[in-house]
Amino acid sequence: MLTQRDNELMCRIGPGTPMGGLVRQYWIPALMSSELPEADGAPLRLRLLGEDLVTYRTTSGSIGVMQNACPHRGASLFFGRNEEEGLRCVYHGWKFDVTGACVDMPNEPAESNFKHKIKAAAYPATERNGVVWIYMGPLATPPQLPDIEANMMEEGEWSVNTTLRECNWVQALEGDIDTSHLAFLHLGAVKEEDTVPGTFDFFTVKDRAPRYEVVNTDFGTMYGAYRPAAPGQLYWRLAHFMFPFWTLIPTGTLGLQIFARAWVPVDDEHTMVWSMVQANRFARQGQDGRERRGAPPVGSTGRFEYLPQATGWLGRWRATQNKQNDYLIDRAVQKTGSYTGIDGITCQDQAITEGMGGILDRSAEHLGTSDAMVIRTRQRLIRAAAAMRDHGTIPPGADNPAVFRQRSGGIFLPEGADWQSATAAYREAFAQHPELQQA
Ligand code: FES
Ligand SMILES: [Fe+2]
Repeated sequence: MLTQRDNELMCRIGPGTPMGGLVRQYWIPALMSSELPEADGAPLRLRLLGEDLVTYRTTSGSIGVMQNACPHRGASLFFGRNEEEGLRCVYHGWKFDVTGACVDMPNEPAESNFKHKIKAAAYPATERNGVVWIYMGPLATPPQLPDIEANMMEEGEWSVNTTLRECNWVQALEGDIDTSHLAFLHLGAVKEEDTVPGTFDFFTVKDRAPRYEVVNTDFGTMYGAYRPAAPGQLYWRLAHFMFPFWTLIPTGTLGLQIFARAWVPVDDEHTMVWSMVQANRFARQGQDGRERRGAPPVGSTGRFEYLPQATGWLGRWRATQNKQNDYLIDRAVQKTGSYTGIDGITCQDQAITEGMGGILDRSAEHLGTSDAMVIRTRQRLIRAAAAMRDHGTIPPGADNPAVFRQRSGGIFLPEGADWQSATAAYREAFAQHPELQQA
């Protein structure tokens, strides 16, 4: 459990909050490059860390990000004209460049120098492998992008998608560092005989109560969850939390899996969930050609569809199965073939974390041993935010992109092996392991 005070500190990310200050130290995956397809095209509403922004692609192809409210008298720049390397407010014609400088003020006398005194909030943006990254922090020269391997692969080898989740970012993220829910929420109806003997799924279903070890790392936290495997062996699942909002989950084979997720706060009660993954690993084409998250482990068909994109603050990347339709839960299927009656791993996760409400009251929880990673990660987040607020301490990895070079996954180790040293080489990103096969 957490006190209300710690819970508020951990969850709220608006301007001026301690956690908002922490998250603003890092580059943030904010939208898909494909959402701004053309130079001088329509601006897009973007809410990020509780700030209402507009973003647009300039004449020369770079990305502009600025406050939505025009500094003159607050008109929405979403209605603006995107022209000649800047965004022009349509109320009185003031124009801003990508740095937020007012470069034209046509409703003031030509001799006025008022425009030189006007500066809108604007944030640097850059693109890498289909993702637009935004830096909302205090440094005039931002740090380098983090070395997230899943966003640094060769063209044709990567796949990325994002989905709106209607709850607080920590609440959503906690599902990804809680390995024990896999055997219930996602695999609860799967029996041992439904799986292939000797596989990760087989041992997961055979023993649904893994033991946990959790350690602090220079990027955040790591857990090793273990359960019995073949005689003399343990099946270990290793996964990470990386500051400020990244998770690397243990679905695949450690050493081969290249997969990162980001839980990006839209505002205190909405999150964009990013999946960056090796192409063809989990992605498949949806009916409209967009990439879908899918092909999950045994026990789910993994269907996932989006509603049409809308232009509102919360209109992007909404799932068709959502809280308005109870995620299309099928109670008959829940009795016969599925633990939840909800189709698809992602929807199951959405249903559970959104069903807790916008921000969960953690003072009423009862945490067990299987929550060790959740507990440790909260502690690190809260301490890092407080240390920054109180002492200006730079949070982990904010000034060191190399700490993010990590991999996660499952591995069989001999009983008694030291799990950390035995897996060190397999946890390194950008390494080749021709001897390994995907589980
Ligand atoms: S409100 Fe934007 S130019 Fe006047
Ligand atoms: Fe899950």
